[in-house]
Order: sequence, then structure tokens, then C-alpha cells
Amino acid sequence: MIEKSTIRDPKLANKGWKKIQWVAGRMDILNEILKEYEDEQPLAEKNLAICLHLEAKTAYMAYAAKKLGARVAICGSNPLSTQDDVAAGLAAHGVEVHSWYGATDEEYREHINKVLDIKPDLIIDDGGDLVELVHTKRKDLIKKIIGGSEETTTGIHRLKAMENDQVLAFPMMAVNDALCKYLFDNRYGTGQSVWDGIMRTTNLVVAGKNVVVAGYGWCGKGVAMRAKGLGGRVIVTEVDPIKASEAWMDGFQVMPMQEAAKVGDFFITVTGCKDVICREHFKVMKDGAVLANAGHFDVEISKPDLKELAVKEEEARNNIQLYELADGRKIYLLAEGRLVNLAAGDGHPAEIMDMSFALQLSSLLYLLDNKMTNAVHKVPAEIDNKVARLKLKSLGLAVDELSKEQEAYLSGWQHE
Ligand SMILES: NC(=O)c1ccc[n+]([C@@H]2O[C@H](COP(=O)([O-])OP(=O)(O)OC[C@H]3O[C@@H](n4cnc5c(N)ncnc54)[C@H](O)[C@@H]3O)[C@@H](O)[C@H]2O)c1
Repeated sequence: MIEKSTIRDPKLANKGWKKIQWVAGRMDILNEILKEYEDEQPLAEKNLAICLHLEAKTAYMAYAAKKLGARVAICGSNPLSTQDDVAAGLAAHGVEVHSWYGATDEEYREHINKVLDIKPDLIIDDGGDLVELVHTKRKDLIKKIIGGSEETTTGIHRLKAMENDQVLAFPMMAVNDALCKYLFDNRYGTGQSVWDGIMRTTNLVVAGKNVVVAGYGWCGKGVAMRAKGLGGRVIVTEVDPIKASEAWMDGFQVMPMQEAAKVGDFFITVTGCKDVICREHFKVMKDGAVLANAGHFDVEISKPDLKELAVKEEEARNNIQLYELADGRKIYLLAEGRLVNLAAGDGHPAEIMDMSFALQLSSLLYLLDNKMTNAVHKVPAEIDNKVARLKLKSLGLAVDELSKEQEAYLSGWQHE
């Protein structure tokens, strides 16, 4: 598929394929699903368009979909998260790839359009850009689309807004909202990979530093938990009084960003909202503050405000941009304010994405077997439970089973 693909450098294919093989050996659930369905070829004669962060785990999922019979085209879901070697490795193994690291906004759009040229029957999206394009400039494709699935919180927000506006034109499975997704991927995956990205990029110590985590949702909980484990003093900022109370009970300080801005050494935004850190916050930050974002879009830390306040801007180190303010204070922004764990790291660990991507493929198979309305659908509990059971199996763990008497006791109300 190399000749059909839009990739940076085909010569990187061997290096990328090795990365894909490394994770393939650790994605036990996906491998079980492959074993179960490969003979059946349930995706035969189906075209699958994927827009996801294009690193090794995603590549292996795309490859697995191909092994189940699909014709697959894939692009990155962020201009900075594609790994060019992985893209080349995947293209060399039968998947059409349109993506490269450092795509301009125009190239990013072009890559999504090229993926859509496959005329999909099925879609996997991450953040909603692919689905948005189908509903705006590529409406001609809608008739053929059976449905799709969405990977992340921000994408689900956009899909629900489309559903509310009654414009969603095919069913979408909310993979992000499955228990085996957000309890593991958003919490433990983001928790570990965000710190991996920050530490490998800055090479700075976390212990003893004030770490400000904006947003105490599933991702924020993971980022705060791991910051604490690294010895950081964690401050949480929130807009939701329940989440803020939860953060306090979990042992973290809670305060508005305007206060936190004065004391933070590291700032991590993970809210899905915009302008969480902006002008008034930069004005009071300490010299040397390090800023990173882990939310889906690069709008959580206001880059326009930072640029306007800065008298000097330069690259301090790979993936670190220095902004010097008029009074000499220096503020450092990692990975252009894009998801730090993917733009400056390898993303979530393989064993975590194994669960998320098992949900993705299972959701596609479910869509093919069931007639569904043009709405955002929950992943059925049977799929969630199957993924959890396969996870336990891969860990060599077992759980107890309820006896008939216990089941009756739990479902009854008259206790003798
Ligand atoms: N980096 C990654 O790999 C990764 C993984 C999963 C999800 N995400 C993205 O991370 C973001 C958060 O996802 P989540 O699953 O934690 O969502 P969530 O809805 O569980 O949590 C978001 C939290 O942010 C809070 N919030 C909203 N606006 C705020 C503001 N202005 N200031 C402070 N807090 C605010 C909300 O009250 C909520 O508690 C989304 O954009 C999602 O798509 C990133």
C-alpha cells in the first residue's frame, strides 16, 4: 500500500514494523479477538476509515481490522501524534496510510479527506474531526456508512451535540464511555503516559514541585495520582464542585487557577475545555513554570495570549518552546500545547490500549450485527464484560462466581 499512501519516508518501514511487533506481542485481548474471528472474516468487503493517533498500538489495531477482512485507510487524529516510522511500517503491510508528523492544518485536513476517499462503510474516529468532515464537506459519503465508533471524551461531546441538533446521520458507538475504556485508558493510561512525556521531554525532577492539574475527570485523576507517586505536591483546579470535593478527599489541594498560577512549577490541563490557562494566569506565574496539555485539542492553554505577552520566543529544547515575558520571567510550553503524552511520547502503554482497541473492534462487529438508530450508543455491557474477562485471563487472574443462593439473595428484598 506504500504507493497509495501519503507518508513521510517509506525507508522507515522496518523500524516502524518493529515497533508494531513489539506492542502486538503485548495486546493479548486484541489477539484473542483475532483468533476468535479471523476464519469468519466478519469485515470482508467492508471499507474502514480510521482517524486516530497513529502510533504503534493504533497501527496494530488497524492491521488487526485488515486481518478480519476489512480494506483499511488511516490518518492521524492530531498533527503531532503520528510516528513516521510506524506510518511507513503499516503502509508496508497492506494498510493505506495518509499521515505524517508535523502536518500543517491544511495537510491534516487533506489527510482526513484522503482517508474518506476509501468510501467507508465503517468509521473509527478520535475527537470527532472525521465525523465532522463527513457531515459538512463529504455528505455524499453518508448513504454508504453503516456506523462508527468514537474513542475520546471530546469526540463524544461533539457527537452528542450533533445528536441534539438532530444532524447525526448514522449510529456511533461511544467507546470512550465504556467502563473498560475510561477506567483504564483515561485514568491509568493518561496518568502514566503524561508523566512519561513530560519527564522524557524536560528531564526535570517532579518530587517536591508544585504540580497543578486542571480538571479532575478520569484523565485528571490519573495525572494527579501519578504526580503524587512521583513526589509532587498536587493542586487541583476544577469547575465542578463534586469533582473538586473528590480531589480534596483524595488528599489534594483545591483552588482556583488564579491562585494556583502563582505557585505552580508544572501545569497540566486535561479538561476538554478552552482557555483554562490564559493571559491573567501567565501574568502571575513563577519564572521557569512548565506547561503541558493532555486534553484533546490545543486550546486549553491559550497560545495566542502567551505569544502576545512574550517579548521573545524560541525553542529551548526539542518539544519545549520558551516564552520570555517583559519582566524576564520564562515560561515553557511543551509540545505546542498538544497532547503531551502523544506529541512528546509514545502514548498510553500497550496493555492499556489493548483494552480500548478490543472495545473498538468489538463495537464495529456489533454495529454490523445490529440495526441501530442514528444516535450515540452505549457499548453494550456484554462487550465491556467480555473485554474485562479477557483482560483477567491475560493477567492470569481469576474471580469468584456467585452461587445461585447468593444471586437470589442479591436480587431479593425479603431477608429471613
Ligand atoms: N491525552 C490522552 O491520551 C487522552 C486520553 C483520554 C482523553 N483525553 C482527553 O482529555 C480531556 C479530558 O477527558 P476526561 O475523560 O478526563 O473528561 P472528564 O469529562 O471525565 O473530565 C474533565 C474534567 O474537567 C473539568 N473542567 C471542565 N472545564 C474546566 C475548566 N475550565 N477548569 C477546570 N476544570 C474544568 C470538568 O468539570 C471535568 O471534571 C478530553 O479532551 C479527552 O478527549 C486525552
